Amino acid sequence: MCGIIGCILSSGLAAPILFSGLKRLEYRGYDSAGMATIYGGKLYLKKDSGKIDDINSRLNFMDMPGSLGIAHTRWATHGAPSRENAHPHLDCSGTIAVVHNGVIENFLELKRELEDRGHKFTSRTDTEVIPHLIEEGVKSGLNLYEAVLQAVRRLRGSYAIAVISTVEPDKIICARNESPLIVGIGDGAYYCASDIPAILEYTRNFISMDNGEIAVLSLGGIEFRRISDGEFVLKKPFTVDWSIELAEKQGYPHFMLKEIYEQPLSLRNALRLQEQYLDLLSRFIDRGERVFLVACGTSYHACLAASYMFSKIARVAAFPVVASEFLEQYGDSVGIDDVILAVSQSGETYDVLRAVDHARMRAATVLGLTNTVGSTLTRVSRAYIVQQSGPEIGVAATKTFTSQLIVLAQLAMRVANLRGKLSQQESDSLRDSLKGMPEVIGRVLNSCADNVKLLAKRYAKKNLFLFLGRGINVATALEGRLKLLEITYTPSLAFSAAESKHGPISIVEKGVPVIFIAPRDSTRKEIIGNIMEMKARGAEVIALCEEDDREIIGLADHHIPMPKGIPDVLSPIPYIVPLQLFAYYVAVERGLDPDKPRNLAKSVTVP
Ligand code: AGP
Repeated sequence: MCGIIGCILSSGLAAPILFSGLKRLEYRGYDSAGMATIYGGKLYLKKDSGKIDDINSRLNFMDMPGSLGIAHTRWATHGAPSRENAHPHLDCSGTIAVVHNGVIENFLELKRELEDRGHKFTSRTDTEVIPHLIEEGVKSGLNLYEAVLQAVRRLRGSYAIAVISTVEPDKIICARNESPLIVGIGDGAYYCASDIPAILEYTRNFISMDNGEIAVLSLGGIEFRRISDGEFVLKKPFTVDWSIELAEKQGYPHFMLKEIYEQPLSLRNALRLQEQYLDLLSRFIDRGERVFLVACGTSYHACLAASYMFSKIARVAAFPVVASEFLEQYGDSVGIDDVILAVSQSGETYDVLRAVDHARMRAATVLGLTNTVGSTLTRVSRAYIVQQSGPEIGVAATKTFTSQLIVLAQLAMRVANLRGKLSQQESDSLRDSLKGMPEVIGRVLNSCADNVKLLAKRYAKKNLFLFLGRGINVATALEGRLKLLEITYTPSLAFSAAESKHGPISIVEKGVPVIFIAPRDSTRKEIIGNIMEMKARGAEVIALCEEDDREIIGLADHHIPMPKGIPDVLSPIPYIVPLQLFAYYVAVERGLDPDKPRNLAKSVTVP
C-alpha cells in the first residue's frame, strides 16, 4: 500500500502541494518517495529511499519547477527500498513518468516482452513495466490518453496510477483497478490522490474513481471513461467536512479499527502472491527434515495455528517455537537438514533475527514470511514471501495476523500437493474456501460488530477474562487474549479448554466472562463439556459458534453467530475477527487509545 498524488494548477508551483500531500500519505508507506514535475517541456525528477523529510532535506523537492506534477510515497512490495525502486518510474526516453499503488501480477511476462523489444529496465519493481508499455503506445502514434488506456488494458492485478509526460505537458492521466483513487476539484486546480487526506487542505470537493476507470485531468476539466470500452462515464462530485486527522483514518476513529475493516482487502492481496515464491518456499519446507515455525507475539500465534494446518493438510510435523526460546529449546540440535520458517510482520523483531542468525550459523535453511520488503528478515532469509497487507499503524496486529494465516495455509496446501496428500477434490474445496475468505470476513464484520460492541460495553468493567478453544483454535484463544490484554491491560488467560481442569478452572467464579471459540469441528463434543464445566462454576459464557448451532447457543449466556461450513484448518481466520473487535471496543469503552497501548512498540527490536 503506497500513496500517490498529482496536481495541475493554473498558477503557482506544484511541488509544495505534492510535498504536503506526501506527508499526509506517509502512513500508507514510508520507505522511499519521489516527485516528478514538468516545466518548459522538460521533466524534472527527484526520488530516493528513506523518510520523506530526510529525502527532502537531501534533495529539496521545493525547488522543482512547474505547476503540474505527480509524487509517490512507497511501501515496497516488489524490490527493496532504494533510489532505483522508488517512484516515479520513467520510460526509456525519460519523457513519461508514472506513480503506482498496487500489485501488477503479470509484470514478469510483460517485462520479458518489453526487454525483447529493447526496453532497458532500471528497477526491480513491478511498476516499471507501465511507463515502458505507455512508451510503446506513444511510439506507435497513439496520444498519451490512448497509450495509457492501451497499457492498463494489459495489466493484471491492482493499480492506481498517475501519468505525466512532456509529450503532452498539460495533462495528468489516472487509472484505477482495485487500489483507491480520488480526484479533487479546486479553484483553477485539479488533483488526484490515493485518498482524501492528501488534498483535503486544498479542496473539499471530490470525485471517487471506480474500478476499471481512467481519467484525463487538464485545466479544461476532467474526463472520466471506462477502461473496458472507452465510453464516457458521468461522475457525481461529493463534499467532505472531515478533519484531516480523521481523514487519514478514512473516517475510522482509530487505525486499529480501520485495519480490522481492511482485512477483506489485505486477504485478497495475500491470495495474490507470486506463484514462484510460494512454490519455492513450499519446496524448501518439503525437503526439511524438521520444520520450525519461529516467531513472537501475534506472529507466534499464527505459527501455532500453522502447525495444525501443516499436520492436517500436508501430514508435516512443523514445530511452532517462541523465537526468544529457540536457542534454549533447539539451539544445540538444529542443523543442516532443518528448515526455519521465521514469521514477522515487521521483519525486524530482535528475538526472531537472533534465532535466525543461530540457525544460519548451523547451516539450517532459513525462510521468511514478512509484511515488510527490505526488512532485515528479507535479507537474512534464503527465500521469503511478503504478505502484502500494507502498513499496519496500530500497535496491535490485526490484518497482518489473518494475512499470515492465509499465506501459511497456502504453503501447507502446496506442500501437501508436492507430497500427494490431498485428493483433487480436497484440494479444490480447500482452494475455494481460501478464495472465499475475504468475502467471509466481510460478512463477519458486517454481522457481528453491533453485537460485539454491546458485549464489550457489558463486560468492560470486568477485571478477568478467559479465552478457551481446542485444536487449531487454541491459537485463536491465545490471540484473542493477547489483543484484549495488550490494549486494555486486563488480566486475561487463554489455553486449551481441556487444560482448564488441570488448574486454571480454580480461578473461575460467579460472573467471570469465559469466551469460547467453538466452531462445528472435530472438537465440538469435548468443547460442549468444557462449556458446561465453566457454567457449573458460575462463569458467564460467550460462545463464538455457527449461526445455527442451537446446542451451544442454548448453553451460552451470549453467542456471536459465525458463518457455517468453514474448514477447521481455516477457522482461526474468521473466528479471530470478533475478538479483535471485542478488544477494540473494551479499550474504547475504557477511554484508552487502542492505537498506542502503554509500554508497547509496533516492532520490538531490542532483547
Ligand atoms: C501484537 O499485537 C503485538 N504488536 C506483538 O505481539 C507482535 O506481534 C510481536 O512483537 C511480533 O512482531 P512481528 O510480527 O513484527 O515480529
